Amino acid sequence: MALTAWVECRGLAKALGTNQVLRDLDLSVEKGEILSILGPSGSGKTTLIRLIAGLADPDAGEISVAGRLVFGPRTNARIESRGVGYVFQDYAVWPHMSVAENVGFGLGLAGMGRAERDQRIREALTSVGIAALADRYPDQLSGGQQQRLALARSMAMRPEVILLDEPLSNVDAALREHLRLEILQLVRAHGTTAIYITHDQSEAMALCDRLAVMQGGRLLQAGPPEELYRRPNSWFIANFLGGANAIEGEVADGVFTAPGVRLHTTCPAPASRVALVFRPEDALPESAQPQNRLEGVVVASMFIGRCWRITLNTGSLQFVLDWTHRVEDGAALAFSVAPDRCALVLPEKS
Ligand SMILES: Nc1ncnc2c1ncn2[C@@H]1O[C@H](COP(=O)(O)OP(=O)(O)OP(=O)(O)O)[C@@H](O)[C@H]1O
Ligand SMILES: [Mg+2]
Repeated sequence: MALTAWVECRGLAKALGTNQVLRDLDLSVEKGEILSILGPSGSGKTTLIRLIAGLADPDAGEISVAGRLVFGPRTNARIESRGVGYVFQDYAVWPHMSVAENVGFGLGLAGMGRAERDQRIREALTSVGIAALADRYPDQLSGGQQQRLALARSMAMRPEVILLDEPLSNVDAALREHLRLEILQLVRAHGTTAIYITHDQSEAMALCDRLAVMQGGRLLQAGPPEELYRRPNSWFIANFLGGANAIEGEVADGVFTAPGVRLHTTCPAPASRVALVFRPEDALPESAQPQNRLEGVVVASMFIGRCWRITLNTGSLQFVLDWTHRVEDGAALAFSVAPDRCALVLPEKS
């Protein structure tokens, strides 16, 4: 197997009980890259990183980390020799050890001498801003501080790759944004390769170099977040990432047609029968793209802060648009969408 990526999974499969949790899953992460994995609950995200860490074994497939096969035919590297650090949702810091001991424990196991260990502990705690709490015990820390400790403990080992499984889900919303940025800066500062699992779409997009979306044990699409948002490869991703307007119809030579609808698109067509999707924020005044015009009657206007969200009924279709101003219910409204914002995917039930 030619190894190119820093973390490489090929053909992973895993059943738990009668549940086929992962199916033929390929994933690669480049050195120094932050990959976010997003997917609905139960899609197999935690299972995937447990396999990478060595906490469970795949039924089939291969895993390599830092150019070394850690799981494959006749190979199953021990957890501690994989060069993988992880931070889980329930942070699992050791309650009977002080903050400093929590960080130092793994370093001691790895055979590091006292002086170097103390230095490493100090650095790790300083980098997450809890150096002053070194002698406290976990039950004397807030949730956010415990989460920082879990991160410091992992990073102190200088892992080849760090796996973060919803590390901020136990932290309140105000702190989450702050910690998110800290994690990002810390991981970047060390050039550590990271896989970051989250339910939170904006968190996933904000943090990552590349985004991967999982559903039902499969990896549906991976790429820069903007690519997944603008050019989803499936109906599921179009809807999962931010929601989209969709029209089912036919496409030929860059022109999409459905009853009462004719729209130009620059998106390659996956089939002749497709769904055209566009985001509410892609609605423009009708004069902006006169060749790509749609019209209807306003049935609702909602103020959502940065704009008005308007629901428009065309008779057979309903659209949601982000608009700069309120429009009265019952008024006619026309809008347009740029051809490069009209994405094509296979219809929902194909
Ligand atoms: N020990 C187990 N035995 C049987 N099924 C399991 C076991 N552990 C997990 N599962 C099932 O495997 C599937 C994937 O679980 P996993 O924890 O990987 O999902 P997830 O994507 O991390 O979900 P969440 O976002 O809720 O954390 C789920 O359907 C879950 O119920
Ligand atoms: Mg999970």
